[in-house]
Amino acid sequence: MAARAIVYENNGDPASVLYAVTLPARAEPLSGRSINVKVLLSPINPSDVHVVHGSYAVQPNPQKLNINGEEKTLYLPGNEGLGEITEVGPDVKNLKKGDWVVFSKGQSGTWSSAQVLEEEDVIKVDQGSGISAVNASTLTVNPVTAYKMLSTFVDLKPGDWIAQNAANSAAGQAVIQLARGRGIHTINLIRRKDDFAETERFLKGLGADVVLTYDDIPDEERVRELVGGKEVRLLLDCVGGQATKDTVRLASKGAHLVVYGAMAQEDIQIPPFLLVFKDIRVRGFWRTGWFNSSTLEERSQFLDELVQLMVSSKFKESVHEIVKIEGTLSDEEATLKVREIFGRVNKGTGGTKIILEVETRQSL
Ligand SMILES: NC(=O)c1ccc[n+]([C@@H]2O[C@H](COP(=O)([O-])OP(=O)(O)OC[C@H]3O[C@@H](n4cnc5c(N)ncnc54)[C@H](OP(=O)(O)O)[C@@H]3O)[C@@H](O)[C@H]2O)c1
Repeated sequence: MAARAIVYENNGDPASVLYAVTLPARAEPLSGRSINVKVLLSPINPSDVHVVHGSYAVQPNPQKLNINGEEKTLYLPGNEGLGEITEVGPDVKNLKKGDWVVFSKGQSGTWSSAQVLEEEDVIKVDQGSGISAVNASTLTVNPVTAYKMLSTFVDLKPGDWIAQNAANSAAGQAVIQLARGRGIHTINLIRRKDDFAETERFLKGLGADVVLTYDDIPDEERVRELVGGKEVRLLLDCVGGQATKDTVRLASKGAHLVVYGAMAQEDIQIPPFLLVFKDIRVRGFWRTGWFNSSTLEERSQFLDELVQLMVSSKFKESVHEIVKIEGTLSDEEATLKVREIFGRVNKGTGGTKIILEVETRQSL
């Protein structure tokens, strides 16, 4: 049984450049603080797509690997996931076989069936907490981002209001649930589609107070009525372009606009009159920046607390689909399947998070 990984040699469209390889089996036993991690689930996040395109701020480290007798320099993408420890080196102190871990080291190559890493590259997740495998596999990006954005920029109190766009995204679903847990109300913007009523019902089920399409932003007086005369002091924007402008129309004076993504792949638009009259403070948030600037201990403690909060508040898994890359597939068949998945991702999966389950290649 040999590990399998999804790789690329050159940046480009993931639906064209990604392929599956069977990794050479490890000859030596693990030494020092090395660990073998079986990757159970690994989501595809929008930032991963940018990484493969080469348009993201970071890239995985290139790895020299011998694939079928040929030396290759490959990149192993995949930044987030849930792993299970299957083997530990002699000097590993705090992990044992069977432990669940998430990936603390960025760009670990989680779209694979197994990884050899160092003890400090992962953070243990308490299985006894009752967190589901899906929530654990998607813990370190969207819930962390949602939590940090709700607590970093504005001192929000129960009863306060915020607004966000792309509210049906996995990030948006996390924002709604974590806000609701703190008694913070949310105005949620989504694109107009035939299934608006269904999406509205779903988001309200998560705790959303108001769900609107970008085309239906009410005038200022109606916004004031909607929020019961309260202020909207935090706006979360992961879309850009015209959507930023629509979102900022909901702002109260002095509000913070936090830009954390660019799904529309357009520059943010903020009309000068809104900036001036509403005195909007524009900020950015990058979870990787926070991960890189915090210590492993800080990240572990934070994730522990977040897991407890998610479990105690009955945090629902983001809408998802698990796609298995079966161990019975040849590398060529696995490549076709991977490229088909990324073809779908390129078209947009409508707020459904695709989570990969890459199985170890079965013996031929
Ligand atoms: N800065 C950070 O640290 C950080 C951390 C986490 C996430 N993010 C960002 O947050 C965003 C959402 O991530 P996710 O994992 O939650 O993604 P996701 O679950 O795949 O959802 C993508 C969302 O984007 C919307 N969308 C796509 N193209 C759009 C367009 N042209 N105009 C308006 N909406 C559009 C989709 O709406 P439809 O359903 O209408 O297609 C969907 O709601 C991404 O930009 C990601 O990079 C940033």
